[in-house]
Amino acid sequence: MRTVEWDNERDRVLLIDQRLLPGEVMVRSYDSYQDVALAITDMVVRGAPAIGATAAFGLALAALRSSAQTVQALREELKRAADALMSSRPTAVNLKWALNRMLRIAEECNGDVDVDLLREAILAEAQQIADEDVEINQRMARYGVKFIEDGDTLIHHCNTGALAAVDWGTALGVIRMAHKMGKRFHVLVDETRPRLQGARLTAWELSQYGISYDVISDNSAGYFLQTGIVQKVFFGADRVAANGDVANKIGTYMLSIAAVDNLVPVYCVVPTSTIDLKLTGGDQIPIEERPQEEVLELKFYDRKTTPPGATARNPAFDITPHRLITAFITENGVVYPPFERNLANAVKDLRE
Ligand code: MRU
Repeated sequence: MRTVEWDNERDRVLLIDQRLLPGEVMVRSYDSYQDVALAITDMVVRGAPAIGATAAFGLALAALRSSAQTVQALREELKRAADALMSSRPTAVNLKWALNRMLRIAEECNGDVDVDLLREAILAEAQQIADEDVEINQRMARYGVKFIEDGDTLIHHCNTGALAAVDWGTALGVIRMAHKMGKRFHVLVDETRPRLQGARLTAWELSQYGISYDVISDNSAGYFLQTGIVQKVFFGADRVAANGDVANKIGTYMLSIAAVDNLVPVYCVVPTSTIDLKLTGGDQIPIEERPQEEVLELKFYDRKTTPPGATARNPAFDITPHRLITAFITENGVVYPPFERNLANAVKDLRE
């Protein structure tokens, strides 16, 4: 199944519970937008495109479960539901992008229309967002595949695969396409502390696709770059500012510095829905700080790694300045510097 799906028979949202992977593949079902918002916050589902599509289906649930009798009343309820979904995670702009697209359907609907027709249109839009996501991912993969050559060793950070999107994936989608085309290469998988999206999710996906990989501790990336073992670095993003500054999983900044210091190119693979032209620079992107337990409750030899009373800081993302990015791979093509002009053009291509 897809990472995020609509259950047509029972009108509910289905999510693969990513917290349990790779040990257990469990699908959970959601009947209310409030529960969908909680699932996003708790990271049952994660990854920028996946949470965008999940929020869209969450809003469809709000429309279907609402008892509103008029278009105006339904619009008001949808706005309240969208606010709740919007605040479920702050950094990935895809969430806002998907919800705004859904709300536009309600806003543009004629007030005299049968309210059930609006409900149907809302659900159809969510399904459209999900279907488009898969198609966009595959388009990005076709643009990005030329950057992977036979014999390459790549470093990949976090999880950007089918699990981070509706299906297929962004940066991992490029890697998957290269493998499908018969290219031979090796992936070093950053384990991605503290939630281990690399070790748990990316390694799981790569083993399913039959792609050669080793998991590495995040702090060994510099070693592999400095010793000439790595030819390219690939990751995705949760939000890209107009100047090309990238908010992505914590550790992306350190990885990019080490790559650039060793003249290794850095590719950021993003759908244009991740580009936020309203923000001029990365310093304006909200960075989520997650509960300290995520850092403190890791275990070693089945025992907690930290002494009683230890405290922790847990920023979930960092900002990689645009000067460290070699190119963005989007569904509208590869974007090189100057990013301010070229990213705006890539986004415009889509909107026209
Ligand atoms: O905290 P997460 O797991 O939601 O963070 C995900 C990432 O940082 C991904 O790299 C990003 O969303 C791009 S995925 C297509």
